[in-house]
Amino acid sequence: MDKNLEAIKQASLEDIRKAEDLKKLDSARIRYLGKKGKISALMELLKNLPASEKPLFGKELNSVKNDIQSAIERKRKSLEDKEQNTSVSGFLDVTMPGIARRTGAVHPITQTINEIIAVFRRMGFSIADGPDVETEFNNFDALNTPANHPSRDIQDTFYLENGNLLRTQTSPVQIRIMKKVKPPVRIIAPGRVYRNDTPDATHGHTFHQIEGLYVDKNVSLADLKGVLHSSARQILGNDIKIRFRPHFFPFTEPSVEYDFSCVICKGKGCKVCKNSGWLEISGAGMVDPRVYKNVGYDPDEYTGYAFGMGIERIAMIKFGIDDLRLLYENDIRFLRNLK
Ligand code: PHE
Repeated sequence: MDKNLEAIKQASLEDIRKAEDLKKLDSARIRYLGKKGKISALMELLKNLPASEKPLFGKELNSVKNDIQSAIERKRKSLEDKEQNTSVSGFLDVTMPGIARRTGAVHPITQTINEIIAVFRRMGFSIADGPDVETEFNNFDALNTPANHPSRDIQDTFYLENGNLLRTQTSPVQIRIMKKVKPPVRIIAPGRVYRNDTPDATHGHTFHQIEGLYVDKNVSLADLKGVLHSSARQILGNDIKIRFRPHFFPFTEPSVEYDFSCVICKGKGCKVCKNSGWLEISGAGMVDPRVYKNVGYDPDEYTGYAFGMGIERIAMIKFGIDDLRLLYENDIRFLRNLK
């Protein structure tokens, strides 16, 4: 091959090899194959060669031109591939950890309610329901709560303009059920209740209760104690103790308030139980015969017990929280840590 041609070929291939990006590759292309490029110049030269030399030189020149062209093409492809792999959109590092998708979770109050419901279902209770807006009759009168009772005071009860009220307890569900069903009845009724209280660490204007009611023949206070103790053990663990304190409710006789031993400090005293070792859960008692009269049950034939359970109190022990307001601020960072 012509020496000059050979040198141009080598130089061009070297330039192409060294081109580190598409721009440099293009300037190499122009340098050799462009209108004023070295190969084009030789094409001009070819025209003036004697006829005897034309065929050989023409052939060699063409073959060099093709070699350069295909070398450029190959290099262009490899540069393009490289560029795509390093550009942001095309970059894929299969060793990178994935982006975790967090799933939602059931709110601690709902979790607590669900767990308590499951416990009582296993003991044969069915679920009852009542509205948040109640009549004064169901919330107070039928529950033997006289018109002058302090809990009826506007300072404790949210009254609506039409004379109804936001129920202050889940006990009116007892009335609704007993008016509908003949004994035996064995129900629990979870729900929201409202009181005109100033919120603090252990009180809210809106909170949750679960009402329990069992009416049948020969039901006794011992049955009540047994059911509450058994459910407490299932909800909070076998170590739990329960105690009754004498109390008064208009719709139960005798009435008690009952406490669970604090499972957080095991009765030693801590912030959650205010150092007493006990947590007040709610009230309970044997259904007052006057309530039976109000719903058309025969008090000589039937006896029964009723109890309330403060859900927030139980959730506080279950999750070890000393301020129930935390449950309602719905700060995801806090809720996420409750298991
Ligand atoms: N309703 C009562 C309260 O909210 C609790 C209770 C329920 C008491 C059932 C006796 C029987 O304080």
